[in-house]
Amino acid sequence: MTRPLQNRRVLLVIGGGIAAYKALDLIRRLRERGAQVRPLLTKGAQEFVTPLAAAALAGERAHTDLFDRAEEADIGHIKLARDADAIVVAPATASLMARMATGESSDLAATVLLATTLPILIAPAMNVRMWQHPATQRNLATLRADGVRVVGPNEGAMAEAEFGPGRLAEPAEIADAVEAMLAEARPASGFGFLAGRGATADAPAGPLAGRRILVTSGPTHEPIDPVRYLANRSSGRQGHAIAAAAAAAGAIVTLVSGPVAIPDPPGVQVVAVETAREMLAAVEAALPADLAIFAAAVGDWRPAATRESKIKKDGAAPAPLALVENPDILATIAGRSAGRPRLVVGFAAETDAVLDNARAKIARKGCDLIVANDVSPAGGVMGGTANTVHLVGRDGHVETWPTLDKDEVGRRLIRHFAGLLGA
Ligand SMILES: Cc1cc2nc3c(=O)[nH]c(=O)nc-3n(C[C@H](O)[C@H](O)[C@H](O)COP(=O)(O)O)c2cc1C
Repeated sequence: MTRPLQNRRVLLVIGGGIAAYKALDLIRRLRERGAQVRPLLTKGAQEFVTPLAAAALAGERAHTDLFDRAEEADIGHIKLARDADAIVVAPATASLMARMATGESSDLAATVLLATTLPILIAPAMNVRMWQHPATQRNLATLRADGVRVVGPNEGAMAEAEFGPGRLAEPAEIADAVEAMLAEARPASGFGFLAGRGATADAPAGPLAGRRILVTSGPTHEPIDPVRYLANRSSGRQGHAIAAAAAAAGAIVTLVSGPVAIPDPPGVQVVAVETAREMLAAVEAALPADLAIFAAAVGDWRPAATRESKIKKDGAAPAPLALVENPDILATIAGRSAGRPRLVVGFAAETDAVLDNARAKIARKGCDLIVANDVSPAGGVMGGTANTVHLVGRDGHVETWPTLDKDEVGRRLIRHFAGLLGA
């Protein structure tokens, strides 16, 4: 039986984080799937794991030094940057991400990462505050825009009794993401790292080449007065990741997005809206489409009236806020008799009875598929970086996926939809 990574060559850059020990397990997992793994350890990484351990597990010499004369004469940093099918950085430290994002090449790892044209996957791991720092988030956005794939970090208990995103994705999840990256990586130009950037106008390719895909994402803001609005916690990460994956699969993608604080996905036409009514108008203007994916968290209600001036506090009891229902975008598009996209996918964010509510929703809305997720405090995904989804079909059949990074969920969903479209 062929293994999923049979004969694929992975250069594994191990950064200097407390999670470096998990990179040893990752070597094992990648090899189990058939990959040849060449380890490269930063100076920091060597404080946590030894090159000998990495080399023994990989069955290959571990590379460590940019200015090692013997090594340069033998393989050299440019050859390292070329002689593989993909580069995986795990754990990706805050410092390595900063070096990658700024194009700094002060050590072997950063030089190879700058010199390469291969697809790159990073698995960040760090203290939650380091992860959430605007500098790290800026670097992350830059790296994503450069076509670098990202897996994790996961949420959970961390060292120093802290909790939050920052834990290295599990080795099996990283290996899954490597598989997905190698399955999808296609040279959009001479530069392999641009493969994640989506179809270029002159060279559409990929399983969804030429298909028109509409995606909605993010929350809506429903104004109360000029300074206040009703909103929800949606970050737009999942919808944006789906749009990015669709573009990477060659589709012509329109993303209608509510207000979000994340960058536009590359290779996608973005239409920015605020309210549910604006979103519906933008969606209708973006049709026809082969596939419409409604991932936005559209506000169910809006204030019955929007005040033109700021409502002032005057000591009296506040006036009750009267609400009216917003248009139902999913039901409107799914119920079209003319111009209905071939495949209409809705999202259901639920806090209770996730699957029952999703089954009821699919019948009520007339869509073809619901992607349901648990946003209860226990599920904890709204606004987070990971997602646990259940695919619910019209016949009530449910397919549950493991908790995955939202980028990976996006790629898997697009592969699934491409299959349904017969692409
Ligand atoms: C005990 C210890 C644990 C550390 N863990 C992390 C970590 O998980 N993530 C991170 O980004 N940096 C961590 N650091 C800081 C990095 O080791 C430091 O930024 C180093 O310069 C990274 O080097 P590299 O990016 O070349 O591997 C840790 C430092 C120490 C002393």
